[in-house]
Amino acid sequence: MFRHFRSDVQAVFENDPAARSRFEVIFTYSGLHAIWAHRIAHPLYRRGWFTLARIISQVGRFMTGIEIHPGARIGNRLFIDHGMGVVIGETCEIGDDVVIYQGVTLGGTGKEKGKRHPTIGNNVVIGSGAKVLGSFQVGDNSNIGSNAVVLRKVPDNSTVVGNPGRVVKRNGERVGDRLDHKQLPDPIIEMFRALKKEIDSLKAELGKEVQEPEAGGDFDNGNYDI
Ligand SMILES: CC(C)(COP(=O)(O)OP(=O)(O)OC[C@H]1O[C@@H](n2cnc3c(N)ncnc32)[C@H](O)[C@@H]1OP(=O)(O)O)[C@@H](O)C(=O)NCCC(=O)NCCS
Repeated sequence: MFRHFRSDVQAVFENDPAARSRFEVIFTYSGLHAIWAHRIAHPLYRRGWFTLARIISQVGRFMTGIEIHPGARIGNRLFIDHGMGVVIGETCEIGDDVVIYQGVTLGGTGKEKGKRHPTIGNNVVIGSGAKVLGSFQVGDNSNIGSNAVVLRKVPDNSTVVGNPGRVVKRNGERVGDRLDHKQLPDPIIEMFRALKKEIDSLKAELGKEVQEPEAGGDFDNGNYDI
């Protein structure tokens, strides 16, 4: 348990440019306090001391606003920035070097039993307000955009944004054209195009009639421009 403490502090310096001194980090970073409460609660949970583990988890929640179920498995150097409103479910597994911002939920989608929370790979960033719901894998080196709602497996090296969450980048390359705003259809322009086409064809028809008036016709060669 104690071997993690030093690397937990180091993770703060690696991920937060605002971190100044060890003293400040140890005494003021609530994400760190929540992880430490979890590092005490989790071994108790694994030994079957469920209620004591839960009490420690709830004290941690009361102090930090971060709820980590004592059953969750957390890797090395997790960094929870700001933290308020973070919820990490019982069967969640988190790899090494993960960054989680405030308001993130790693939860289930209903009342399933058994493994029902996500498995987060190594080196993943989960943006503020993102919800990752269900029992699936979020691949290594992936980014979950803030406020994304992720409901299915995320491959390695991917960026997922939106609700429902979609992969928009993989291995540094854009995927699909969902965010290609320049290509989005504009219904008003489309309508004007259709009207113009119809007007052009009417003009063409009228022009034909003007050039070849029916015998006895009474066109006065007026201006037929519309
Ligand atoms: C997703 C994120 C990690 C960036 O990952 P990235 O792989 O560098 O992705 P990019 O910045 O290249 O963005 C890829 C596309 O997704 C869009 N995008 C990025 N984040 C988004 C979000 N949260 N919601 C919707 N779209 C988003 C970008 O506009 C871009 O679209 P484009 O290709 O049409 O220009 C980052 O945008 C993010 O959300 N970080 C969380 C930060 C946070 O929570 N900070 C809180 C500090 S208190």
